Amino acid sequence: MRLVFLGPPGAGKGTQAEQLARDLKLPHISTGNILRQAIKVSTPTGLEAKSYVESGALVPFDIILRLVRDRVLQDDCRRGWILDGFPRNLDQAHALAALLVELKIAAPKVVYFQVRDEVLVRRLSGRRTCRNCQTPFHVEFSPPKSAGKCDRCGGTLDQRADDQEAAIRKRLVVYQTETVPLVAHYRSAGQLLTLSADGDPGQVSTELRSLLGIGVATS
Ligand code: AP5
Repeated sequence: MRLVFLGPPGAGKGTQAEQLARDLKLPHISTGNILRQAIKVSTPTGLEAKSYVESGALVPFDIILRLVRDRVLQDDCRRGWILDGFPRNLDQAHALAALLVELKIAAPKVVYFQVRDEVLVRRLSGRRTCRNCQTPFHVEFSPPKSAGKCDRCGGTLDQRADDQEAAIRKRLVVYQTETVPLVAHYRSAGQLLTLSADGDPGQVSTELRSLLGIGVATS
């Protein structure tokens, strides 16, 4: 199974991708997580990407493409993957299509997370992310069992640099101008599945599985 998760910042793409990938034993490829990890350990890519990620701007095309290409060529991607956060504009969508043709892989289904703006802002401003494994929590909607600590690995929970108000505003503008055109693009290609993602995480997960024609969550 190959899926692309498309939607605004804070739509719940990472939350759903992480659980579905675990259940289906597929890699969850989040370009945001890969970039944040590269920034954390100060790789050359991380140093180059840092100012873009923290301000809410898109990282330059060449960096992202190299990163996605390297990741989907790894062995664990043979059975499929969930791409979360890529593609994010038409240039990236064309590059992904070309890469899949080169690899003789069929076009993926694209799940479009549809969420109201006021819901997004609440989700983003309350998000806390594990410094170690990047699992997302929410102070109100999905709090950790022990305050400030990741349920999965015990790591410390932080607020992401781009979840500050100015960066959230910028990300929403970038989403509207760069990413929204992908909805029409994938709809006209017959690849789009629209997910109503305003509900709580359990409701969204049930709806997602029904949209994809797969069984109930196991984790
Ligand atoms: P990225 O990490 O991809 O950020 P994003 O797309 O803005 O998405 P988010 O991670 O903010 O939201 P999400 O939809 O995953 O929501 P989540 O599940 O966490 O990208 C970050 C940056 O990296 C970009 O700005 C850019 O600089 C760069 N970048 C990445 N990809 C790039 C690319 N392709 N090209 C160029 N640059 C790129 O949920 C949010 C919160 O809500 C959490 O607290 C969660 O617990 C909570 N929550 C989730 N679902 C629900 C629910 N149903 N009900 C209540 N709360 C919920």
